[in-house]
Amino acid sequence: MSKNLKQIAGIAALDFVDDGMKLGIGTGSTAEAFIEVLAEKVATGLSIIGVPTSERTRIMCEKLSIPLTTLDETPHLDLTIDGADEINPQLALIKGGGGALLREKIVAAASDDMLVIADDSKLVDPLGAYPLPIEVNPFGLLATRQLIDRCAGNLDLSGTLKLRMDAAEQPYLTDGGHYIVDASFGRIVDPEALAVALNAIPGVVEHGLFTGLASRAIISSESGARIVEAAVRP
Ligand code: 5RP
Repeated sequence: MSKNLKQIAGIAALDFVDDGMKLGIGTGSTAEAFIEVLAEKVATGLSIIGVPTSERTRIMCEKLSIPLTTLDETPHLDLTIDGADEINPQLALIKGGGGALLREKIVAAASDDMLVIADDSKLVDPLGAYPLPIEVNPFGLLATRQLIDRCAGNLDLSGTLKLRMDAAEQPYLTDGGHYIVDASFGRIVDPEALAVALNAIPGVVEHGLFTGLASRAIISSESGARIVEAAVRP
């Protein structure tokens, strides 16, 4: 997404932010475009308090003087605003391209609502062209990979499972100290079923399928921003 489309989505998201709100603040380049405009509003008097969904977002918010809290101090939030890697018509999402899926899901689940911000290239049907990030405990990695493979096979899914590496060619570590396996399943027609099956694997800490969390998305394109509501599955 060009910088401009991220800014369009970020600016449009401000319409959903009211004075006094407790906000979940997302991670990724689109969320960062939102954080920039949010900081400008805060500087001119908007009163909000935010829970960042990653260390990267926390550092950016602190630099821009956005007041922050934690879920321990403020366990219930009004709204989370976050990006996504893929969005289907029911607003089921693939998230975690930036590695923050666990905190993103905890924060979204602690919020009354989730608003997704993205450009129109993220709208897909079905999900799955973007590799699904699966956060796993480093202990027993091979066994967990085999169980993920088996669970996918039970749902007629297959594809490569790739351990995410960092710039130093070491396993990428999440903010929670876990690894990420990126699963290239190709077509995920039943994200709910896959979500349930993955959650049943002990070594899986969390996965990037977000179902039933977002009620609206702001989708930006060259012609501006539009609101997409979750479609009812036919
Ligand atoms: C981070 C995420 C991001 O929201 C997702 O990767 C989208 O990022 P971007 O806005 O940079 O395309 O899930 O874990």
